[in-house]
Amino acid sequence: MKFFIDTADVAEIADLASSGLVDGVTTNPSLIAKSGRNFLEAGREICALVPGPVSAEVTAVHLDGMLAEGRKLAKLAPNVCVKLPLTWDGLKACRALADEGTLVNVTLCFQAGQALLAAKAGATFISPFVGRLDDIGQEGMQLISDIVEIYRNYPATLRTEVLVASARGVNHVIEAARLGAHVVTVPPKVLRDLALHPMTDKGLAAFLKDWEATGQRIL
Ligand code: G3P
Repeated sequence: MKFFIDTADVAEIADLASSGLVDGVTTNPSLIAKSGRNFLEAGREICALVPGPVSAEVTAVHLDGMLAEGRKLAKLAPNVCVKLPLTWDGLKACRALADEGTLVNVTLCFQAGQALLAAKAGATFISPFVGRLDDIGQEGMQLISDIVEIYRNYPATLRTEVLVASARGVNHVIEAARLGAHVVTVPPKVLRDLALHPMTDKGLAAFLKDWEATGQRIL
């Protein structure tokens, strides 16, 4: 499963990307606003930090504007993935941009029918927002299960990768992997949390204490 970082914080991306465990980045207008950065400048910097797709979202809501913005964003760097909302105009823009060879991430997906249309529109990625469904008492990961099952029925025609978004913690990541999602995008903290367990810390401390008692050094 691929790990994308869900942030526009360039310093955080640089730090985590140095681990070699980051495959891409997703941003959205709210994350850009939170960063306080110029969108296009930050986008170029982020694209230089990771090898894989960097999602940059259009802000137009009608087809012509989506296409104009998407084509401008696609020129920022070869690994830009244009992010489009799951609306009819977004689906039409997805089809057009995908036909031009542009990577497309169709976002704000909340039910499987939307994911089916996005795949038919040639989306590279579909972004179901699991955390926001959980927030309203629905089962976000059930949507992932449904989409993975549906896409698996049509391997020759539906090539879209399931990109689990709005993931709020380690359990979302683990469940996404169990279900066979292709990608999960997480805030920096969640990726760091994935490496943590108190018994790991406790066990390491015990190893080092016992080693210290030997008086030996490896170097
Ligand atoms: O990639 C989508 C993500 O940024 C949304 O997360 O926590 O605002 O639902 P959240």
